[in-house]
Amino acid sequence: MENSVQSSYLPSPVMPKCPPQHMLQGQRAIVTGAGSGIGRAIALALGQAGADVVVNYVSGTDTAEEVAAQIRTGGVRALAIRADVSDESQVQDMFRKTIEAFGSVDIVVNNAGLQQDAAFENLTLAQWNKVIGVNLTGQFLCSREAVREFKRRGVIPQVSCAAGKILCISSVHEVIPWAGHVNYAASKGGVMLMMKSLAQEVAPYRIRVNSICPGAIRTPINMEAWGTKEAYEELLKLIPYKRIGEADEIGRAAVWLASDYADYVHGISLFVDGGMTLYPGFETGG
Ligand code: BGC
Repeated sequence: MENSVQSSYLPSPVMPKCPPQHMLQGQRAIVTGAGSGIGRAIALALGQAGADVVVNYVSGTDTAEEVAAQIRTGGVRALAIRADVSDESQVQDMFRKTIEAFGSVDIVVNNAGLQQDAAFENLTLAQWNKVIGVNLTGQFLCSREAVREFKRRGVIPQVSCAAGKILCISSVHEVIPWAGHVNYAASKGGVMLMMKSLAQEVAPYRIRVNSICPGAIRTPINMEAWGTKEAYEELLKLIPYKRIGEADEIGRAAVWLASDYADYVHGISLFVDGGMTLYPGFETGG
């Protein structure tokens, strides 16, 4: 491919010597939907690992500003930027502002996502479009801007072995069908093949693309599933590891996957789900 990194006989990159808490020193990240839940935890974790962070949000300016302020207490830069990820010009503006403020961007975490659940026959076109718009088109628009910037800049070895890293926050529902949530499952199934096809396309430019697929994580999106004792007990039937996950656990996975410690990890869906994808119904049946 034109302009791709010369691949023949390149030595393996020299791995970072820095301790894990500085894994992302000097790197610049955008995390979408970072005002709450998993996005907030990822933004905080990247900041703790030494990255400058853009905390993207679409509503809740105060909360997003608080997340940015908390990140800055660690001595790195952080900015809250409002943008609807399903809107092309708002996404482009966000990248422009980030590059103006930080000089470039090295890590893009496509996290913004939502659910609008309904029985299939009642699912409205508006609910379908909203979920696909944010969860899938949003990831496309942010990934495209990321790839443009990563290709423009190329690899800077002092910063990272890669020209850039894209992390798609998908879900166990990229492979587990989910009745009553058809729009959501369709969006995550779309993320899976968008991620893998993009990973194949941009690998020669040393752009790494991967997904994290959380299972049940304690966040506002699924409060119904863990908010009462009865609901929590039902939920545990789906989780071999017999506990709900915490948002910080996704944050730690994101730090590793975005760092040079994972430089040879490309095009994967990393399930962080306590075994939810192990078909727990078959523990006894089958
Ligand atoms: C959904 C949660 C759900 C989890 C496991 C996530 O992608 O957003 O609502 O609890 O998958 O089913």
